[in-house]
Amino acid sequence: TRSHSLAVLPGDGVGPEVTDAALEVLDAAQQRFGFTTERTVVPLGAEHYLETGELLTEDTVAQLREHDAILFGAIGSPKVRPGILERGIILALRGAMRQAVNLRPVRLYPGVPTPIAGLEPQRCDLVIVRENTEGAYVAQGSTVHRGTPARTAVQESVNTWYAVERAVEFAYRLASVRRGRLTLCHKTNVLVEAGSLWLDVMEEVGQRFPDVETDYVHVDAMCMHLPVSPERFDVVVTDNLFGDIVTDLGAVVQGGLGVAASGNLNLEGTGTSMFEPIHGSAPDIAGRGWANPAGACLSLALLLGELGEGEAAATVEGATAAVLGQLPALAGEAMGASTGELGARIAAAVAEGSTSPVPGS
Ligand code: IPM
Ligand code: MN
Repeated sequence: TRSHSLAVLPGDGVGPEVTDAALEVLDAAQQRFGFTTERTVVPLGAEHYLETGELLTEDTVAQLREHDAILFGAIGSPKVRPGILERGIILALRGAMRQAVNLRPVRLYPGVPTPIAGLEPQRCDLVIVRENTEGAYVAQGSTVHRGTPARTAVQESVNTWYAVERAVEFAYRLASVRRGRLTLCHKTNVLVEAGSLWLDVMEEVGQRFPDVETDYVHVDAMCMHLPVSPERFDVVVTDNLFGDIVTDLGAVVQGGLGVAASGNLNLEGTGTSMFEPIHGSAPDIAGRGWANPAGACLSLALLLGELGEGEAAATVEGATAAVLGQLPALAGEAMGASTGELGARIAAAVAEGSTSPVPGS
């Protein structure tokens, strides 16, 4: 039988709850589709940091490299100053594992309530490709005249041809197997240096994809178009910070942060890809069973697709969509079922094959 080795990083807050639910769904998928996984749980996160002072160590990186994929929950805690765990673990992992793009589908499933009035699922099926290793996320920045009224902070954005080309090329390739439309999202009217590099990369790489139609939208305009007319978009490529922002908006359009999935992809076999719900650790609701495990389950579906388990991936996505479409609310007490109960329901739907037809797939 086929076997895959997984590193599981449950993390903090609701991370372990949604990860447990996803693992139960994985058990069901394995049974049904006849593959196995070997799972290593890696204790990264706030607790581990407070106990040991360790963030992402060289040893952990080496260990993670030995796995076929990483399933990640969420990291972040009010007990640790903001930025330490995020930069020291999540961003460090994305860099160390050369996870060049962050793939974030924005898909509205049938029956799932969206705050966008009148939006039909057929009108909302796009993928945001976020450059995942640089931009404003890597420049260290600097401050002068600290402690005086002249205090001045400089925070730059790094854009290398190499990384931008890698992300843009991935986005073109994805568009060429989808509906053949690629949109660059940036702010070229203000960020002239970075913007023209992105435009030049789009033009050069585009010559290799003559069948993909391209388009450009400023990031502020994107915040209007994405909720109002998501059907305009098939694949959107953007930089790290814009991608972070517009994918939260995308998540809201598809029903909320609890529903959205992501894949941090290594494209060259030089590291391990990592799959995580886009929500955070939500410490305010941790331990209550109020977190929606859909984002984690849909991230598992992306993981299975990357491992070549295409049928299992489609089934997990369809089963998650089917269960989501029946919920009275998408998070909190009003969801009517706990995180664990929803995991069990999605697992049962995987076992029975009762999935929701996913538009466009
Ligand atoms: C995300 C998160 C992270 C990011 C944070 C936690 C560093 O918001 O995955 O979108 O900004 O990339
Ligand atoms: Mn984010």
